Amino acid sequence: MKNGAPSYTQREVITTQIYPSADQACTYVADAITDLVSERNAAGQPTVLGLATGSTPVRLYRELIRRCQAGLSFQRVITFNLDEYYGLSGDHPESYRRFMQDQLFDHIDILPENTHVPDGLAAKDEVFESCSDYEAAMREAGGLDIQILGIGRTGHIGFNEPGSGPESRTRLVTLDSLTRRDAARDFLGEENVPRHAITMGVGTILDARQIFLLAWGEAKARVIAESVEAPPSESIPASFLQGHPNCVFCVDEAAASHLTRLRYPWLVGPVDWTETMTRKAVVWLAQKSNKPLLRLTDEDYTENAMADLLTEKGSAYDLNIRIFNTTQHTITGWPGGKPDADDSYRPERRIPFPKRSLVLSSEPTDDVFCMGGVLHRLANQKHQLTVAYLTSGNLAVPDTDVRRSIELIIELGERLDDVAEVHFARKVEQQLDAKGQFGEDSSDLRRLKGLIRRGEARSSARLLGIDPAQLRFLDLPFYETGRYRRFQITKADVAAMVTLLNEIRPHQIFATGHGHDPLSVPALSFEVLQIALRACAGADWLKDCWIWLYRGPGVEWEIHEMDMAVPLSPDELDFKIKGIYQHQTQRSQSPGGSKQDANSWNLASALNRATAQAYDALGLAEYEAIEGFKRFRS
Ligand code: GLP
Repeated sequence: MKNGAPSYTQREVITTQIYPSADQACTYVADAITDLVSERNAAGQPTVLGLATGSTPVRLYRELIRRCQAGLSFQRVITFNLDEYYGLSGDHPESYRRFMQDQLFDHIDILPENTHVPDGLAAKDEVFESCSDYEAAMREAGGLDIQILGIGRTGHIGFNEPGSGPESRTRLVTLDSLTRRDAARDFLGEENVPRHAITMGVGTILDARQIFLLAWGEAKARVIAESVEAPPSESIPASFLQGHPNCVFCVDEAAASHLTRLRYPWLVGPVDWTETMTRKAVVWLAQKSNKPLLRLTDEDYTENAMADLLTEKGSAYDLNIRIFNTTQHTITGWPGGKPDADDSYRPERRIPFPKRSLVLSSEPTDDVFCMGGVLHRLANQKHQLTVAYLTSGNLAVPDTDVRRSIELIIELGERLDDVAEVHFARKVEQQLDAKGQFGEDSSDLRRLKGLIRRGEARSSARLLGIDPAQLRFLDLPFYETGRYRRFQITKADVAAMVTLLNEIRPHQIFATGHGHDPLSVPALSFEVLQIALRACAGADWLKDCWIWLYRGPGVEWEIHEMDMAVPLSPDELDFKIKGIYQHQTQRSQSPGGSKQDANSWNLASALNRATAQAYDALGLAEYEAIEGFKRFRS
């Protein structure tokens, strides 16, 4: 910003507050709830809250639980949840009623009869009546004082999918295929996700007196920008919130990153043309104009609100060459640095060589999916490579796969007369039968599922030329809860990471999770790394340790964000794909457990190819595929 003056013309029609972290945003919303509940409690009156499910509000609920423990009473609070899967009973492990009990109601002093969740079991011919009753109960309670919302990647609020109008009321709806794919991880397969749900309507939500919509992580960035900047339309139901007089979006920096004022600031106001901003703008200009960098003209700059950049930094000719060179210098076939080469313009330093390279994979598959080519190169280029799998990944192993292994163990054990082994396998088989399709896994089952993933990681590594002895399996305890969304980091997680770091003393670390949904496995793994690095402050090795971020399964850095771009030959891409294929239990899962298209075995190569094409389109060399990395400076 020029002279530090916040003079941007914002395009946001809804007040959008950006917080450095989800926790800070949650504190703000929890304060608003606390103020209202305290005031109403003092006056002997009820407070009516509209509540949401999903990962997003979990940290808010944890904060409310803390406040209840500190004395805030919820005895006069009445709640209405937005939605429920149709066909699921309240005690189904994936029902939203169960979620609310687990995440909030069971931990505060709210009266059970004051908590309302739509009835997922209402008979088809009674659904209409059940929905009207739900609305009537809300009215009778005095209407919603505060409504908490998350947002789906389709732009839905509650389960109001695209096509829902601003007048819609509580009703039975059909779920969008993207929404069902996003829920596939919870239900261990898209085919198990209910097709219908009961949801409050957009109109019901708009009746609330105050609305807070929360969103975290880059996966929500696009839909947040569209909701607050684009004209309201049924294609993004959240955009109808623009018509509400008292609605605030509370988002973290990653979820805000597509707002025009952050993504294309030159379009809405004066800009401080730092090197980073210049690179971002010039690459954007080339992509928008469909031209290689070196062919941009003065007119291209002036016609696209970048005249002041020309005035400040010289001609298009100078700028083009500068940004071309910067982009060119990100390319290297030596992710660990090239020994005996001039490294003035290389992304990684040449010494020390070989390097102690530590690759952190939040779940098995993240490593090969995002940086299989680089793993192959680091191994080939004789670095001292360690790949550490931070969590066991057992939650993503389907029961069918573990049953196959159990049967194998039983058969082998019987042939070898190994009584102990057969006994163990039979016990686990019984646990599997008893838990049902969605029940929680016993610790034995989790262990077995974790071992299956270890085997897959080992065979994937072998294919990439990595000796399985170079692999570590940390099985961080935060993950071992038997269910997603319960994760909480403890000292034991950090201690395990500190031990690993001090033992390896890495010169470079590859990690992911920065900017992800804070409750996701990659984000929590990254948080553990950051806390551990702080605990290692002062250690000798840390003074010379560089951190490279890979973005995560299913997504890639944008070109202007990449500090290192490692090309893959057609053969290397082939190796990588074969490496990914070793993770057989993940065929029907979203890779890395992140929210993206299931069945996306080819997504990795498609992304890497798209990056190479983007470099090519900017006028740089044409490669088969590229893996991108961003240097992290804490
Ligand atoms: C579901 C819920 C929504 C929620 C959305 C986002 O579809 N019905 O209320 O906002 O998921 O989920 P998450 O917070 O896990 O990203």
